[in-house]
Amino acid sequence: MTRYLLIAVFVLIGAGRSISGQFDPDGIFLTWKDDPATTMVIDFHTQDDALREPVVDYRIYGEDPWNTASGDTRPFPYTDRIIHRVHLSNLEPASLYEFRFGDDSRIYRFRTMPADPSKGTVRFATGGDTRHRKDWMDRTNRVAMEYDLDFIAWGGDLAYADGMEERVYRWIEWFDSIKETLIDDDGRVVPIIAGIGNHEVRNHYYTRHEGYEQTDAWRKKLAPYYYTLFAFPGQPGYGTLDFGSYLSIILLDTDHSNPIDGIQTEWLHQALEKRKGVKHLFPIYHVTAFPSHRNYEAPFQRRIREHWVPLFEQYNIRVAFENHDHTYKRTHPIRDGKVSEDGVVYIGDGAWGVRTRDVHSVDETWYLKRAESARHAIIVTLHGNECDMVMVDEDGDVIDRFRYMLD
Ligand SMILES: [Fe+2]
Repeated sequence: MTRYLLIAVFVLIGAGRSISGQFDPDGIFLTWKDDPATTMVIDFHTQDDALREPVVDYRIYGEDPWNTASGDTRPFPYTDRIIHRVHLSNLEPASLYEFRFGDDSRIYRFRTMPADPSKGTVRFATGGDTRHRKDWMDRTNRVAMEYDLDFIAWGGDLAYADGMEERVYRWIEWFDSIKETLIDDDGRVVPIIAGIGNHEVRNHYYTRHEGYEQTDAWRKKLAPYYYTLFAFPGQPGYGTLDFGSYLSIILLDTDHSNPIDGIQTEWLHQALEKRKGVKHLFPIYHVTAFPSHRNYEAPFQRRIREHWVPLFEQYNIRVAFENHDHTYKRTHPIRDGKVSEDGVVYIGDGAWGVRTRDVHSVDETWYLKRAESARHAIIVTLHGNECDMVMVDEDGDVIDRFRYMLD
């Protein structure tokens, strides 16, 4: 009898149902593709036998009735999971919404950004290299969640699956970590902006694939998970997200599924030109231009300094976020290859949930201001012209601070 009861419970859970009887999807992932004040992209994952439609009910918290939006589905590569993707639009800015996946579902929440974010406070966490071990990822997630985040932006090396079928379990763990630790006690899901790193890509770099062409088909062949699991940036693997004319995030691809130079650099130039009036603009990418662990003269690092750094300097970027080295670092402001008060500060270096590495000596490395082997999150708070960053390690201790004020 007990055995039958257990089987019944497993069957219910297997169909995405919690023991309480409410439907709860296997994975939930929120992101933006358009205006964060009026849109939201909701992904939810089910097993293919759960017989759910890609439909989301949503309403402003506490208001009746529910609105319903439908989307489309795609298979989660190399699994029985289905990714349901629903784009919500025409939302009210600066509002708390609740949403569900049918009337038998657990209810979650999200928050839209203000239409004019310059009037309030915007806070996000950034970092990268998120999952060598799920418990490390969970831990930094929990530390970051203490800060009431509007969103998280990660700069690549997410699950470490390298585009390989046999490592799909790493993505499952990655989404489990998000569901377990990046939803607050009230059910509010924190949106995530996910950039590409070498560990999203088969053999890590497009240069290692004979016959590579800079096409959607090739990029998806190299990074089958990345281009399926995330609505943003989608093809071609780099993109911008604009929060009015107050904040822009630019995600870039450091030679993984696109060459740094050529089409992408030309696109970056145009993107920066179009956003000359934006107050706070942050490029986020994977490989470091100014490494705290790796070799400064290595080819990918040199290519970023050759093609992108001059553009960052030309357009007076204040801070660029780098990853990939599995350390914490902050550089001096840099312009024209030397320390300069009006230069760009590079902050990173990708140690959210990975084994850390040794750092170069700060005293003997001309560009380094701070470097440390510590898992961490970078918490960025924008308030008017002010940008305040606090870097917290996995214990929640502050390991560095940085602040700038626009003129
Ligand atoms: Fe990396």
